[in-house]
Amino acid sequence: MRDVEFSWFTDFLERKSGIIINADKKYLVQSRLKPLLRTHTVPDLNDLVMRIKRQESSPLAEQVVDAMTTNETLFFRDQYPYEALETLIFPELTHGKNSHRSINIWSAAASRGQEAYSIAIAASESIPQANKRVKILGTDLSKEAISYAQKAVYSQVEVQRGMPVTRLIRFFEKDEKGNTWHVSEGVKRMVKFQTGNLTDDRAMMLVRSHGPFDIVFLRNVLIYFSIEERKNVLDRVARTMNKGGYLITGAAELPTGNTSKWEHVLFKGKRLWKLV
Ligand SMILES: C[S@@+](CC[C@H](N)C(=O)[O-])C[C@H]1O[C@@H](n2cnc3c(N)ncnc32)[C@H](O)[C@@H]1O
Repeated sequence: MRDVEFSWFTDFLERKSGIIINADKKYLVQSRLKPLLRTHTVPDLNDLVMRIKRQESSPLAEQVVDAMTTNETLFFRDQYPYEALETLIFPELTHGKNSHRSINIWSAAASRGQEAYSIAIAASESIPQANKRVKILGTDLSKEAISYAQKAVYSQVEVQRGMPVTRLIRFFEKDEKGNTWHVSEGVKRMVKFQTGNLTDDRAMMLVRSHGPFDIVFLRNVLIYFSIEERKNVLDRVARTMNKGGYLITGAAELPTGNTSKWEHVLFKGKRLWKLV
């Protein structure tokens, strides 16, 4: 890929998704985009970029952005967020006169769904009648990841990454033929997925219509954005939440910018964020 095309492409990607690619990461762009050449019968990457340039809002442009997303995820990632839900956040939200209230949760960079289903399982284990009271929305920029999440079917390797056997047996059903695991209907019904770009105001208005949220998981996604974009995303997220609601970021991701909006709560040495 020539430098001019690479440079145009990284600007385009940032405009469309907030994702920043540094100048020394040309190899990454090349390896992510090469598989698209064959599917779209395009001779080379320079030509691919020219086509996107001509039609920035085409399905091809959308697929190219999708190909640049990193969808790495696993069930019960880092464990502590789920322990925090069970021992701190759910008890606080359902305390005393709130014992029957419903709880609204957003998994804001849901990838292939493991995070949202882990939240649903944690809720099923600790909230009576969770399937009636807990609603979880999972959104992600990647259409491909979202349609995978909607299927709620995971391979043996995927469930082995993070899902304890006791939970696997209780909340999944095995499809012997395909050697795959289906999320049980009860858990699946608690979760709804749709595409959603955290850097797009209109998309976030749509998410807001599902709110206000009591808990937002915004994990391992801010790292892809510029400092400026992180601030904007956090502001948009704050607008979807109830005051006193919890924001759970990746272990090393801190709310930058208007920190007066967020106060931190330490849980097992990790910071959770509360909207003031
Ligand atoms: C590394 S995964 C994190 C998944 C999950 N939250 C976790 O911690 O395991 C990052 C996800 O962020 C999504 N993403 C990247 N940019 C986004 C944007 N602008 N809006 C919404 N999702 C985005 C990617 O598609 C990807 O699925």
